[in-house]
Amino acid sequence: MRKLINVFLLSIIITLFTNNIHAMNINVNKNNKIETESLKNDVQKLKEIENDPNADNFYLIFVNYTLVDNDNENNTEKIHNKRHEENREEFINSLMDEIHDLITDNIDTYKHPEDVEEILDKEKLRKRDDQFYFGIVNNISSLKDITVLTAILSENLVDNVKNMNGVYDCIPNRAFDLHNSYHEQEILEETKWSKLAMKNNTDVHLSLISQGIYNPKLISKYDNTFYYPEQAGKNSKIVIIDSAFNFNHEEFSNTDRTVSCVIGVDHRGEILTLYDSKECIVGYSDSIDHGTVTADLAGGLQHGVAPNADIYGFPVALELNFITVITVLQFIAKYLLVMNDNNKIVFNFSFGSIYKKNEFSSYFEYLQYLIDNYNNHGVIFVASAGNYNRSVYNVTSEERIYPCYLDKVICVGATDNPYNTTSNNSEQLLVNSYRKADFSDYGDGVDIYAPGYHNYAINSIEKKKNTEGIFNGTSGSAPIVAGVVATIMSEYPKTTFNYDSMLNYLKKISFKNAIVDIEKDHPSNYFINNGKHVVYSEDDIYYGCGINAGYNKCGDKSCCSSDGYCVKDENSCKIENGCQSNYGICNL
Ligand SMILES: *[C@@H]1O[C@H](CO)[C@@H](O)[C@H](O)[C@H]1NC(C)=O
Ligand SMILES: *[C@@H]1O[C@H](CO)[C@@H](O)[C@H](O)[C@H]1NC(C)=O
Ligand SMILES: *[C@@H]1O[C@H](CO)[C@@H](O)[C@H](O)[C@H]1NC(C)=O
Ligand SMILES: *[C@@H]1O[C@H](CO)[C@@H](O)[C@H](O)[C@H]1NC(C)=O
Ligand SMILES: *[C@@H]1O[C@H](CO)[C@@H](O)[C@H](O)[C@H]1NC(C)=O
Ligand SMILES: *[C@@H]1O[C@H](CO)[C@@H](O)[C@H](O)[C@H]1NC(C)=O
Ligand SMILES: *[C@@H]1O[C@H](CO)[C@@H](O)[C@H](O)[C@H]1NC(C)=O
Ligand SMILES: *[C@@H]1O[C@H](CO)[C@@H](O)[C@H](O)[C@H]1NC(C)=O
Ligand SMILES: *[C@@H]1O[C@H](CO)[C@@H](O)[C@H](O)[C@H]1NC(C)=O
Ligand SMILES: *[C@@H]1O[C@H](CO)[C@@H](O)[C@H](O)[C@H]1NC(C)=O
Repeated sequence: MRKLINVFLLSIIITLFTNNIHAMNINVNKNNKIETESLKNDVQKLKEIENDPNADNFYLIFVNYTLVDNDNENNTEKIHNKRHEENREEFINSLMDEIHDLITDNIDTYKHPEDVEEILDKEKLRKRDDQFYFGIVNNISSLKDITVLTAILSENLVDNVKNMNGVYDCIPNRAFDLHNSYHEQEILEETKWSKLAMKNNTDVHLSLISQGIYNPKLISKYDNTFYYPEQAGKNSKIVIIDSAFNFNHEEFSNTDRTVSCVIGVDHRGEILTLYDSKECIVGYSDSIDHGTVTADLAGGLQHGVAPNADIYGFPVALELNFITVITVLQFIAKYLLVMNDNNKIVFNFSFGSIYKKNEFSSYFEYLQYLIDNYNNHGVIFVASAGNYNRSVYNVTSEERIYPCYLDKVICVGATDNPYNTTSNNSEQLLVNSYRKADFSDYGDGVDIYAPGYHNYAINSIEKKKNTEGIFNGTSGSAPIVAGVVATIMSEYPKTTFNYDSMLNYLKKISFKNAIVDIEKDHPSNYFINNGKHVVYSEDDIYYGCGINAGYNKCGDKSCCSSDGYCVKDENSCKIENGCQSNYGICNL
C-alpha cells in the first residue's frame, strides 16, 4: 500500500511542476524536458522564501465584497446604478489596479526588483481576463462575495494592502509538507538521527526493531519498512569470530567500507594470516556458512542492521575453543585497537557453552580480565544467550552459560517473530513477536531480546552459489543488537561508549516489559529498538492514537489512553492514568 501512497505523492509533485510552468517561467526545451538549471534557480528562490519570513513573496489577499464601503470616495461614482455582480467585478478590478499601482510605485522596496520587472514584462503578453494571464496581481478564485487575489509584495507593502477597502486579510504564500517528508521530520525529531534512511518491504527482523510494539487494534496494516540512521554504522567496526566467511556477495558490495577477513586461527591456536581476502576458510565445520549469515544480519546491505559498518571476520578452524578465543582477542588488542583511532568496535562473541560455576574458573576469570580491559577502550561485546531453552544463570544447579554470564558482555535472547508477513495469520504471528522464542535461553544474565528468525542472502561456501534462506537462533539475534550498537556508535562519533553506557542507552531506546511471557520488570525484559518508536500503518489508516498509531489524534469527545486507544471512559481519560493530551481530550 505504501507504493500507492507514493504514486499519490508523486502525482502531487507533478501537478506542482505543471503549475510552475506558468508561474515561474521555466524553460522548456525541444523535447519538452524542463531545464534543470532553471529549476535549480526556482528551488533556490523557494528556499530563500522559506528561510526568510520577510523575503519578497507572493501573498494571498482576501476580499469580502460585503465589507466594501461603497461610500468610499475612491469608488463611489463608478459603482452606483449597476447590478451587484457588475459592481463587484468592477470593484475587484479597481482594487487590482490599486494594488498594481502600489507595487509599481514601490519597486525599490523589493529585495529582488528584477523578479517584479520580469513578471511585469510577462503580464503584457495577455489580457487580465485571459485564463493564462499571470501578472504581479492576479485573481485566482471567486465565490459569491469573496475573492482571492495574489500579488507579489515586499514586506513593506503588506500593511498598505491590508488596509485597502474590502480586504480582510493578506497572508504570505506558504508550502505544505508532503506527507512523506512530514514523517521524516517526525522521525528525525524523535530519534535525533542526523539523517534518515529507509528500506521498503524489508525483512521482519529489521522492520520490527524500528517501530514500537505492533498492535493490529491500533493500525490497519503492518509497516514493513526499516527506518535507520543514514550513517548506518559508518566507521564502526564489527568483529566476528566464526566458522568461515565469504564476503563475495552483493550484501557486502558497497565499496566505502572495509569488509574483510583478518586472520584465521586453527584449533591449536596457530595464526594463519589471511589479510585482504574476501573469502576465508580455515578448516571444515558443520555450519560452514554460519559466519557469513551472521555477518549478513549485522551488516549486510539488504538484510543487515548496520550496512555501512566495517566488518572484520576471524575464521576459526573446527571449533572455537579456549585457546582460539584468547588468541583472537589478543590479536585484536595488537591489531584493531591500534588501527581504530576512536575505538568504535563491536565484538560479537560467536561461542557459548554451559559450565558449572567453579569449573575452569581461571580461564573465565582471565577472559573477564581481557574483556574488562577492552571495555575501558570502547569495545562493546555482544553475545547470544544460546539456544538451550535454559536459564543463563541457574542458581539451583550452579550452571552458567558463557560468555553471556560474564560481566560487561551484552547478552541477547531471541523472540518468536515471523520471517514473512504474507501468510494468512500474519497479524497474530507479528503479535507473537514479543514472546520468547522456544529455543532461547533466558533469565538473569540476559540483557535484551531481539528477533529470533531472520532472512538472509549469502554466497554459500557449502553450496558454492548464492543462497537465500531463513535462519533461526540467538546467533542471529546477537548480530542484530551488534548492528544497533554500531549504528549508535556512528551517530555519536565523539562519544566512547563502554558496556554500562551502551547498555543504558540501548535500554533507554528499547521497549521495557515488551516480552509478554517474561516477568514484568525483570532486568532482561527489553525488546531491542533502534530509537524509532512511532508505529506507522502502511496504508495510513489508523484506529488508535498517539505514538502507537502514527501520532493520530482521536476524534470528537474521546481521549487517547496511555496505550494508544481512543476511548471515552473516565478512568483512562485521566492525565494521571497516562491519558495523552496531545492526541485527544483528557479529563472529559
Ligand atoms: C463577508 O462579510 C460579511 C459582512 O461582515 C459577513 O457577514 C460574511 O460572513 C463575510 N463572508 C465571509 C465568507 O466571511
Ligand atoms: C483612496 O485611494 C488613495 C490612493 O490609492 C488612498 O491614498 C486613500 O487612502 C484611499 N481612500 C480610502 C478612503 O480608502
Ligand atoms: C475572478 O476569477 C473568477 C474565476 O476564477 C471569475 O469568475 C471572476 O469573474 C473574476 N473576478 C474578477 C473581478 O475578475
Ligand atoms: C521507499 O518508500 C519511500 C516513501 O514511502 C520512497 O520515498 C522511497 O523512494 C522508497 N525507497 C525505495 C528504495 O524504494
Ligand atoms: C554472534 O555471536 C553468536 C554467539 O554468541 C554467534 O552464534 C553468532 O554467529 C555471532 N554472530 C556474529 C555476526 O559474529
Ligand atoms: C536449573 O537446574 C535444575 C537442576 O539441574 C533444573 O532442574 C532446572 O530445570 C534448571 N532451571 C532452569 C530454569 O534451567
Ligand atoms: C513468504 O510467504 C509467501 C507465501 O507463502 C511466499 O511466496 C514467499 O516466498 C515467502 N517469503 C519468504 C522470504 O520466505
Ligand atoms: C490461506 O487462505 C487461503 C484462502 O483463505 C487458503 O486457500 C490457503 O490454503 C491458506 N493458506 C494457508 C497457508 O493457510
Ligand atoms: C522450554 O522450557 C519451558 C520451561 O522450562 C518449557 O515449558 C517449554 O516446553 C520448553 N520448550 C521447548 C521447545 O523445549
Ligand atoms: C530453525 O533452524 C533449524 C536449523 O536450520 C531447523 O532445523 C529448524 O526447523 C528451524 N526451526 C524453525 C521453527 O524454523
